[in-house]
Amino acid sequence: MWTLRDLMTQRKRAVYSRKGGPNVIEIIEEEMSSLKPDQIRIDVYYAGINFADLMMRVGLYGAAPPFPFTPGYEVSGIISDIGNSVKDLKVGDAVVAMTRFGGYSSFVDVNPEQCFILDGVDDLVSTAAIPVTYATAHHMLVHLGKIRQGDSVLIHHAAGGVGSAAAQIAKAKRAGILIGTASSKKKEFVEQQGMIHVSRNDDFVKISRSLTNGKGVDHALDPVGGKHLMQSYRALSKGGKLYSFGASSAIPGKKRNMIAALKMWWQMPKFDPLRMMNSNKAVFGVHLGTWENDEIMREQMEDIVEMYRNGNLTPVVDSIFKLDEASKAHSYMHERRNKGKILLDCRN
Ligand SMILES: NC(=O)c1ccc[n+]([C@@H]2O[C@H](COP(=O)([O-])OP(=O)(O)OC[C@H]3O[C@@H](n4cnc5c(N)ncnc54)[C@H](OP(=O)(O)O)[C@@H]3O)[C@@H](O)[C@H]2O)c1
Repeated sequence: MWTLRDLMTQRKRAVYSRKGGPNVIEIIEEEMSSLKPDQIRIDVYYAGINFADLMMRVGLYGAAPPFPFTPGYEVSGIISDIGNSVKDLKVGDAVVAMTRFGGYSSFVDVNPEQCFILDGVDDLVSTAAIPVTYATAHHMLVHLGKIRQGDSVLIHHAAGGVGSAAAQIAKAKRAGILIGTASSKKKEFVEQQGMIHVSRNDDFVKISRSLTNGKGVDHALDPVGGKHLMQSYRALSKGGKLYSFGASSAIPGKKRNMIAALKMWWQMPKFDPLRMMNSNKAVFGVHLGTWENDEIMREQMEDIVEMYRNGNLTPVVDSIFKLDEASKAHSYMHERRNKGKILLDCRN
């Protein structure tokens, strides 16, 4: 059914006006340009907030466009318009899309390959929380890691978006012991997600070894970087796999801190292939933002959607801020307050 919103020609979007703290986020209203023939327009209901958005805002994300720009890797919504040459999608379809940039907006134009129709799934809140977190976790544990029944997994930022998604995917694939590091106040949440909680300041290498009878873990997911990455490597068993997929230690506060960024970079380990060979350990670099194989990504999303439909995955949405409050939402994540995903309601 057509609504007033379908006739809208204006859109509202959040813009990083320049590099800086959350206060550089501005909200603008503008006339929308006409839709390109090979694109679709999504009336955005919810946009996901990712840690990468914070890194972009402080100017520490190599793959970001120049300022000013609108961030936003993922959205859920309804197709409101469709280009003449687009097939297999129609106005009114509920979709999620990997936008990469531009998602913090009331309307966004994307290519059809960026969209996924989630048949039979009409909860646009949960679905907005799926693309980046679950695809990243799936990419590491399933695509690269070939996780097996009984495998042990060490998950950092365990209470966050990717952390909780990783725990759920690992459980769905019948992994064994799951160890999750997070702030002490998130212990209960981490345990609810099926992990053994380790406070982020504790010696997780020693604890991981003791929980695995001295063996070490089969998989370690490290989004922290710097010297923390070497610690994660040390927590591995022989034959274990380490995934380096972030550098959160580069931004300890809300603003750019070049000393912390340089320290993180300086302390990044240099792995010795001979030692890796002798212990059969593997180190993977993972960045979904620059991943280009759509076919593999689609297969991964299909597996994720199937697990979701079977009730094996339950996206955890911590909070929903209005689009106008994007700056507040960023502060909330910087202050380490989220347990699960933060979304923006883009229909306000
Ligand atoms: N490579 C990729 O393709 C890819 C894709 C998605 C995400 N990532 C990375 O995965 C990590 C998690 O991303 P996410 O979007 O799911 O975010 P998230 O984990 O929900 O991020 C927020 C949480 O991170 C923890 N944290 C650790 N260091 C922090 C810091 N310096 N400032 C604020 N919070 C910090 C906090 O939990 P505690 O207080 O409990 O530690 C906080 O609640 C990030 O490093 C991100 O860059 C990488």
